[in-house]
Amino acid sequence: MQTPQQPEEKKLFVKEKFSSISPHYDLLNSLLSLHIDRYWRWRTTRQLRHYPEGWVLDLCAGTLPLALELTRQAPARQVLAVDFCEDMLRAGLKTLPRDGRMGRIHPVCGDGEAIPVASSSCQGCTIAFGIRNLARAEQGLAEMYRILKPGGRLIILEFSRPTNPIIKPLYNFYLNKVLPVVAGRISGDKEAYQYLASSIAAFYEPETLLGLMQTAGFTKLCRITLSFGIVSMYIGDKDIGGMGAP
Ligand SMILES: C[S@@+](CC[C@H](N)C(=O)[O-])C[C@H]1O[C@@H](n2cnc3c(N)ncnc32)[C@H](O)[C@@H]1O
Repeated sequence: MQTPQQPEEKKLFVKEKFSSISPHYDLLNSLLSLHIDRYWRWRTTRQLRHYPEGWVLDLCAGTLPLALELTRQAPARQVLAVDFCEDMLRAGLKTLPRDGRMGRIHPVCGDGEAIPVASSSCQGCTIAFGIRNLARAEQGLAEMYRILKPGGRLIILEFSRPTNPIIKPLYNFYLNKVLPVVAGRISGDKEAYQYLASSIAAFYEPETLLGLMQTAGFTKLCRITLSFGIVSMYIGDKDIGGMGAP
């Protein structure tokens, strides 16, 4: 399976794949990660503990699992949940708990490369398992920088490639052989999970992603690996004096 290389074609392909798996996305996420995905989103949200109020933009919000955690950890926080796949947002809306959090999650259908949000309007920005899917990651990062208030923080949560000599072959076998078959059976779209494996393999090296964040204007950059480096958090701040794009 070949992922389209042209940005507009990749966008259509990605949107179509997520639309197709949207009814099964949450179940498969939990099943295939053995529920560890909850811990990853908890850790990501903790990075915003010094920003308990105001707006956080959750980009590529999908079925809203990170938006939920963002509102759970901070009762005064509002979350703008942006995704370009309406079916993913709709699937997430169906599962929202009927409590106070529901009114603080605001789903918006929009493109991460042209975020429909005013400049310097959010305290925080998160993107979980989304940056790998953007057709133009640099453009997305410039947009995330633009919408953050000076002093605001970006946290990227994304799969990385473990280097531990014991974990690496096991993980690669699971990702390339087991996951597409199991997830393909349940979701009915094996290609979507082949795309997951190939997009992880093709994604930037951590240093390259940190370099792109720096080019977009972010400072105080750091990377924290989780679960043997299967995923990483990339954190960057918009300086107090940072107004527009650099
Ligand atoms: C793997 S899902 C992640 C969902 C959620 N953040 C999570 O933690 O499970 C990736 C999401 O990125 C969205 N996406 C990909 N490219 C996008 C773009 N250019 N603009 C907005 N959303 C995009 C997809 O529609 C999909 O819902």
